[in-house]
Amino acid sequence: MKIFDTKQTRNDYFKTQIARSRKKFSFCKVSHTHVKTWKNVLATNFNVIDNYKGPILCLGTRNGREIDLFRSVFYQNKMVNILVHLLEIKRNGWNSCFPLIEGMRKSSLDNIIENSVTGVELNPDVKRPDVFIGSFDEMPLKWADTFGILYSNSFDQSCDPYKSAKEWIRVLRDGGYFVYADIIYPELVTKWDRSSKLSFGLVTVSIDDLNSFIRHNGFATLHSLLAKFFVCRNYEAVYQKS
Ligand SMILES: C[S@@+](CC[C@H](N)C(=O)[O-])C[C@H]1O[C@@H](n2cnc3c(N)ncnc32)[C@H](O)[C@@H]1O
Repeated sequence: MKIFDTKQTRNDYFKTQIARSRKKFSFCKVSHTHVKTWKNVLATNFNVIDNYKGPILCLGTRNGREIDLFRSVFYQNKMVNILVHLLEIKRNGWNSCFPLIEGMRKSSLDNIIENSVTGVELNPDVKRPDVFIGSFDEMPLKWADTFGILYSNSFDQSCDPYKSAKEWIRVLRDGGYFVYADIIYPELVTKWDRSSKLSFGLVTVSIDDLNSFIRHNGFATLHSLLAKFFVCRNYEAVYQKS
């Protein structure tokens, strides 16, 4: 699967990603409702919640808000979730007007346990105890077979998707789940973005290519949903390590 049109050195790739991440640091593409939906998909389709075995890892997490949402939805009580939902505003993507509530009880990378929710991000500006600063295609060796659920909407940003897939399989437990979500942009939009000075680094992912790539790299597709979203399409899928 080809992700980038231009050939970049690994160093240049890191620099570009970090610069883009900084530019959009307060932006979060994920809402409380998204995470609730994915939890329901896991619960209704695969009985995951009853037999649920964490921990959860969010890959390419930018400012880390999605980690807070996964922790709230999977591990906090109903009252906290009502508050997180009510306090959410649509500004810079999805954000909270009182982040203290959803930011409570962060996990620690030093002690990853069943109900930990952690993340990985290249941008060193995200200073949180639950975020590993580094590349998601080179994670700590001790994380092998650790996580029950991986979440990412950043796979399309991989420098080398084969290397990323191999690494994600390595840290996922047997039978673990990978929740994938992303916006599929039409070619025209990504072409325009590439030629623009303000480029957001948009890429067009072919869903067929993605699914066949995922299958050939040790995952089975359990659920996929494609919905129209203005001129784009929202794609979400749940894959299982087979
Ligand atoms: C499209 S943004 C998504 C951010 C966040 N998940 C959200 O929904 O708002 C991609 C993020 O992934 C990070 N990223 C890109 N490549 C990465 C890599 N190899 N390892 C870790 N993070 C990476 C970027 O720095 C950026 O913050």
